Order: sequence, then C-alpha cells, then structure tokens
Amino acid sequence: MSNTHTHSISPNIDLFAEINSLRRDLNAIILAHFYQEPEIQDMADFVGDSLALSQRAAETEAEVIVFAGVHFMAETAKILNPNKQVLLPDLEAGCSLADGCPPAEFREFIARHGDHKVVSYINCSAETKAMSDIICTSSNAIKIVDSFPAGQPILFAPDRYLGAWVSSALDREMVLWPGSCEVHETFNEKKLVELKINYPFAKVAAHPECPEAVLQHADHIGSTSSILAFARKTDSRQIIVVTEPGILHQMQKENPSKELIPVPGADETCNCNECPYMKKNTLEKLYLCMRDRTPEILVDPELAAKALAPINRMLELSR
Ligand code: 13P
Ligand code: SF4
Repeated sequence: MSNTHTHSISPNIDLFAEINSLRRDLNAIILAHFYQEPEIQDMADFVGDSLALSQRAAETEAEVIVFAGVHFMAETAKILNPNKQVLLPDLEAGCSLADGCPPAEFREFIARHGDHKVVSYINCSAETKAMSDIICTSSNAIKIVDSFPAGQPILFAPDRYLGAWVSSALDREMVLWPGSCEVHETFNEKKLVELKINYPFAKVAAHPECPEAVLQHADHIGSTSSILAFARKTDSRQIIVVTEPGILHQMQKENPSKELIPVPGADETCNCNECPYMKKNTLEKLYLCMRDRTPEILVDPELAAKALAPINRMLELSR
C-alpha cells in the first residue's frame, strides 16, 4: 500500500515549514539514508548509512521516528523501539535483497546447514533477522564475521556479493544465500573501465553490493559512509562513484571542488543506477506521513523480540 492521498496537498503549502512544525509537535526525529533525494536529506535530523541509522534509532529519545529510507530500515527502528511510533513515507519502499530472501525458503536453507552460524545483512525482513545469529551492515560485515572463531562454519545472507567480498577479505569460506541488490547489480565492468580510460587520474569508490568484476577495479570498497570518508580523504580531484547516486548530494557538499563521476547503469535508457525503492519517498509523502501519522510500521511483538537479539549483538560489537 502506498500513500494515495497526495492530491490533498495544497500547491501553495511550504513543505519545509510544515515538516518543521510537525517535527516539533510530534516530538519526532527524521532519519534519512544517503540515497534519499536531496531535499529529504536536507530536512533530516540525521543522515547516515544503515549502521549509523540503526545506532541513532536505538538511542533516540524522540517519541516518533520518521524513517526516510526503505522498509527494512524502518522495521529495524521499530524492533529497537517497540513502544514508539515509526513512520515510513511510502510502505512500498522495499528492497530487492529483503524481497529475495523469503522466510520459508530461508528456514529450509538454514536447516540444510545445521552446524552453521547465520550472519544476515541488515537488508532483510524481520523474519530473516529472527532466524539469524547476528546482523551486520556493510560497515561492519568483516568485523562481525571475523568475531566467530576460525573453523566455525558460517552461512551469510542475503547478499552474495557482499558475502563474497567479506569471504575474500578474510580468506574464509562461507555458504552464501544467492541474493543481490538489483541496483548495484546493474553496474557493469565495461562501463566502469570506459570511465577509467576517460578519467585516468580518478579514484574509484564502490559499494560491496557490487559484483566482484566491478569491485576488482575499485581503489576503495565500503559502505556509503566509508565511501564519503574516502572522498574527503583522497588527494584525487576526481572520484568515480559506484553506488546509488543519491550519495552525490552529501559528497558534493563535503567536496565542492572535487569532480564526482557517477557510473550509469548498464542500460543507459533507464535510470537503473537509482534505487526505485529509496526514490518512492518524496518530500510530499514525508509531510503527509507526519501529518496523518501513517503509514506506520508495525511488527508482531513476538517476532520483534526474536529479531531484536541478533540486532543487539551487532550493536554491541559495533560500539
Ligand atoms: P549502507 O548505507 O549501509 O552502505 O547500505 C547501502 C544500501 O544499499 C542501503 O540499502
Ligand atoms: Fe535494497 Fe539495493 Fe535499494 Fe539498497 S540500493 S535499498 S540494497 S535495492
């Protein structure tokens, strides 16, 4: 279900002022991911990667959490705050990784690997989290997997590319659930190599959700916040950015004199390097969800309690 009542907004309304006043009235915090559109990022109390957003959600004293991100992020915030209201501007803001790991199939997959510990990327449903020993994000995946003693078999889900990257970084075999991000999967090696030829002095920063053929050309691989940190630190004046272009907003703000070069998707007739789920949220929908206090994220309390334990284990290890 998505918001269908956008027509009820007057065209004269000052969305920035209205959102600010609702934020005060509701005692709300607005959390936004780096892939959100620039106006949403600029309205947010905090913009971050998945780990920082879950840490912020865990510690907030606000009464209402407005999550400008995708469903699994808002759901994680709700699991961490069962007594708070968590709002998501558009309930259809999903994620191909979460959708590609249906709970019934995942349960069977785990059962076939009974001696394995289950490490799940935060981009998954509450059901998948509840079946996991620990959660990770792209910021801490290497550290989390490495926290298990050598010799402990590990099953990693649902992103096989992130899993393969962790596996090779630690030289540790893992059983991988065959999921992928439909956005990062569209970055192709040929396009990237063409850009490298055209910009021979540029450094390449890539997200580990990209396929290995792409990652092998990267000077830096990491989460959105680590890509931002790399962009700040590098002496290079040009950076080829191999992740969702929403990140360019903060990157350009932080590095006004650097040239940022986004990599297009394989098919240049579409904007398929943009996450269609992240882009479901708009400033109008952000305003409406705060005005109407819907759509609200609800998680069955028993399921939430099961999903909380592996999230808390991750947060403990990420202090
Ligand atoms: P991070 O911001 O944690 O790097 O995650 C990227 C992503 O795909 C979120 O959906
Ligand atoms: Fe999911 Fe990929 Fe979109 Fe991130 S960019 S929310 S992993 S579909």
